[in-house]
Amino acid sequence: MISFRDCIMGVIIKKIASRTMNQILSKSFLDNLIHEIGQTGFVVRDNFMDMETISELTREAQDIYKNGHMHKAKTGINHVNAHSDDIRGDFTFWLDSNNASPAQTRYLSMMEELRISLNEAFFLGLFEFESHFAYYPAGTFYKKHLDQIQGKLERQISCVLYLNEQWHSNEGGELRLYIEDNTYRDITPVQNRIVIFISEKFLHEVMPGERERMSLTGWFRRRTV
Ligand code: OGA
Ligand code: MN
Repeated sequence: MISFRDCIMGVIIKKIASRTMNQILSKSFLDNLIHEIGQTGFVVRDNFMDMETISELTREAQDIYKNGHMHKAKTGINHVNAHSDDIRGDFTFWLDSNNASPAQTRYLSMMEELRISLNEAFFLGLFEFESHFAYYPAGTFYKKHLDQIQGKLERQISCVLYLNEQWHSNEGGELRLYIEDNTYRDITPVQNRIVIFISEKFLHEVMPGERERMSLTGWFRRRTV
């Protein structure tokens, strides 16, 4: 006869097994990433996704822009009339999980795995992920800023996945991440590279690039009080 205890144990084991079996991101990848964020507050990882998905996301970003479905990004707390080319020149398209392509769904699943790991490690209470494609026409930029709107705690962790095939380091378009006041690190936006950082800790800017620059950018959010 199976006891109540065996039954409960069975359910627990099944749950753990199914979670690890269906995971896209490996445990060691997540463990290393979490460790590094704990140490420095940011990570840069190459080859984040399989080539098929990253190529599809790249195609989708191009098509959405070409078809006129991206909107000029806005700036400032008061968004009315606030989009200014002096601050940022990108166009964005927000992802909607209820209306996502297979490649977008795979990306969102990966970010969900990351969200669970971040919560387990840092007790951040992250409950939501918001993300958009971003398209910077050649020569455009995003001046030095923080992703966390002052006085608001929602955006905790910023993630930028790049979609630029064959981007060379002499083409500009770096993400300049300020480690301290006068120290920064320039990150080249090469396809399939992801940068993850604690939103409130790092001022950063997007340098002007010589050609169009695309990414999938997202934020893990905490519930608003
Ligand atoms: C942003 C941003 C960085 C990048 O959208 O807030 O800072 O490298 N993006 O695209
Ligand atoms: Mn930013």
